[in-house]
Amino acid sequence: MSRTIIVSNRLPTKAQRTEEGLHFTPSEGGLATGLGSIYRAEGNVWVGWPGLEIEDPIEQQFVTRELRDDSMAPVFLTQDEIRDYYEGFSNELLWPTFHYFSQHAVYEQAYWDSYVGVNQKFCDAVLALAGPDDTIWVHDYQLLLLPQMLRAARPECSIGFFLHIPFPSHELIRVLPWRQELLEGMLGADLIGFHTYGYMRHFLSSAAQLLGYPSQNGLIEVGQRTVLVDAFPMGIDYDKYAQVAESEEARECEQLYRDALNDSRVILSIDRLDYTKGIAERLRAYEQMLQLYPEWRGRVTLLMLVVPSRDQVEKYRALKVEIDELVGRINADYRTIAWMPIQYFYRSFPLEHLSGLYRLAEVALVTPMRDGMNLVAKEFVASKGDRPGVLILSERAGAARELSDALIINPTDTRQLAEAMHEALVMPEDEQLLRMSNMQALVSTYNVYHWVRLFMDRLTYIKLKQQTLATD
Ligand code: F6P
Repeated sequence: MSRTIIVSNRLPTKAQRTEEGLHFTPSEGGLATGLGSIYRAEGNVWVGWPGLEIEDPIEQQFVTRELRDDSMAPVFLTQDEIRDYYEGFSNELLWPTFHYFSQHAVYEQAYWDSYVGVNQKFCDAVLALAGPDDTIWVHDYQLLLLPQMLRAARPECSIGFFLHIPFPSHELIRVLPWRQELLEGMLGADLIGFHTYGYMRHFLSSAAQLLGYPSQNGLIEVGQRTVLVDAFPMGIDYDKYAQVAESEEARECEQLYRDALNDSRVILSIDRLDYTKGIAERLRAYEQMLQLYPEWRGRVTLLMLVVPSRDQVEKYRALKVEIDELVGRINADYRTIAWMPIQYFYRSFPLEHLSGLYRLAEVALVTPMRDGMNLVAKEFVASKGDRPGVLILSERAGAARELSDALIINPTDTRQLAEAMHEALVMPEDEQLLRMSNMQALVSTYNVYHWVRLFMDRLTYIKLKQQTLATD
């Protein structure tokens, strides 16, 4: 039987060390939460890093056994690899570059060497598992070299690659000293997928301008092989979010917060800590809203959840300090004895609690500076059921290409964002319901199952086309 081997840097489950020993919790981030619902089907396996440095062979065996029962195969990273491949090349160079924050990019030969080494390590782990008929589906920017490495070892194999972050203009890609290796690495796949048509066009133009590979209708000739490039906007497990939102636990959580906030109106903001998410800009816009519309003082609360992320990387630490200071200052300037403008939480929350907060919020602020897709926007929509609510969405999130019934804003325009918050808070309920149900129709139809099916169908299509071309 043929299976799909999913490969990503991070597994959907992470190991954590406590005083009682190792234990396992769900990972954060769009990739893990998005694909987490479906990978277990039909004997599939997920290969990736369990998110912790585990060097002791006995502990490695324990983790391997525990994860195997849940169809996962761990790749263990050393402390040096975590620093140079994960924090370094992936998150201090590729992440800022691909999100148009090149000013944060760090170029280090040691980072590159480690990136090559770890991609090879993943390649060996996949080859040890994959049979000749298995399909290999590689995910995201941490593993850009892997498709080509797998191709060299298994020339006939079906390999898909999906990028979960934006693919920027070729003007940014050309700055990378290792641009050729990175692009050739991706082109080892049979099918390369992006969230939006715009990212796909940027990739095609990089391949043309930097490698000299022209394309036609998304098809690129790479030597004897034809590679297909296409757009697949990722969806969520809509029914799961809709059902959890109706659960007793989510309702109780909603009520708990509602009582604690004295029935104040709620604007919700949920993100991983990241400078791409526009968290500081959002805080400034909220302050501006309180200045422009003082009638909201004492009547609205910004409920802001920031999930810890990449806290060993300097830029993330600096951002944490900036956010802490901003929240402290705004709260100090505007609070009264009975009202706190911002309720700020720096931790991760279980799904049922998030769901309760989605139920509670009148407005969700999803205002990244850049974001490949942003699944929080879709989760909010799925959790609303037949209740009103307004989504304020950045035009630079991939989700804005689909969710045109949100209030679409430019996240650097704090004045526009402040006005949008006011507009959302006063929007008539029937307009909210209409916009919400339009978005729900879209998010429920184009869900994560649809996304996987579409990607896999296109992969089958290109494999058949390659065979036809070879026999012509
Ligand atoms: O969505 C992009 C992404 O890097 C995913 O690959 C990852 O699951 C998520 O963000 C969280 O990032 P990290 O794995 O670095 O914590």
